[in-house]
Amino acid sequence: MPQQTPAIKSIESAVQDVPGWTPLDQLYSLFMLGMSTSGLEGDILELGSWCGRSAIALGFAARLGKGTKVHCVDLFPEKSDWYENKDGSYSFKVTIGGKVFEAYHEQTVWKEPFERDIVPVYDRDPSLLKTFQKCIADQGLQDVVTPFRGDLELFSSQAPKNFRCKLAFIDGDHSYEAVCSDIARVERHLVPGGWICFDDAFSSYDGVNQAITDKIINSPRYEMAQQLTRKLFVARLIG
Ligand SMILES: C[S@@+](CC[C@H](N)C(=O)[O-])C[C@H]1O[C@@H](n2cnc3c(N)ncnc32)[C@H](O)[C@@H]1O
Repeated sequence: MPQQTPAIKSIESAVQDVPGWTPLDQLYSLFMLGMSTSGLEGDILELGSWCGRSAIALGFAARLGKGTKVHCVDLFPEKSDWYENKDGSYSFKVTIGGKVFEAYHEQTVWKEPFERDIVPVYDRDPSLLKTFQKCIADQGLQDVVTPFRGDLELFSSQAPKNFRCKLAFIDGDHSYEAVCSDIARVERHLVPGGWICFDDAFSSYDGVNQAITDKIINSPRYEMAQQLTRKLFVARLIG
């Protein structure tokens, strides 16, 4: 069996107690892609961070670059922001700076995964943002990984005019409209040669699959568009 590199071993132990959905093969791939962009200008942008599993792998890669930061954009819903829909599934609504943001409205979260994966996170702490910050600080990554509470539109409107990213990982709302809008926002900041990456691609989310097909695979602007692991799809903006 080939020997594991220390970086891969450290990702595995760093995330073992961090709740979330990004599997190890995908974390290794994100880490490697992050390392491969060390020669490019810009930061790393993540949309959809939850407790910080994928942010930790991206943070490890960023730490090896010169001054690269990871910006983690998430609505960071509190427990009380979640509500049950008529069909028993769940969605949430958060108010930030007086504006209401809705998520998982089209693509809702079914009762069983909600009770199994989401409720226990709030038993640790009713504030998701605090749980995220603790998981990041436990790895000493607080100087590299910065949370932003909001959606990509709010992040873009508050980012410096010259904000650029060299790797973007999209793992937020999985509806077609949301993913298309996230792609359009990321494209404003992505540098030529930079990577756009998607979770839950070509697995079980029609909206994600269709958005990737329409906006990435059928776009002449990307190269090396491919499935990298079971549910991670990546593409590189033509340089
Ligand atoms: C599947 S989880 C992310 C999992 C995480 N990447 C991991 O490694 O475990 C999706 C996250 O997206 C966030 N989210 C959903 N819709 C959003 C939106 N429109 N803007 C920002 N964050 C959103 C949710 O709060 C949730 O934390």
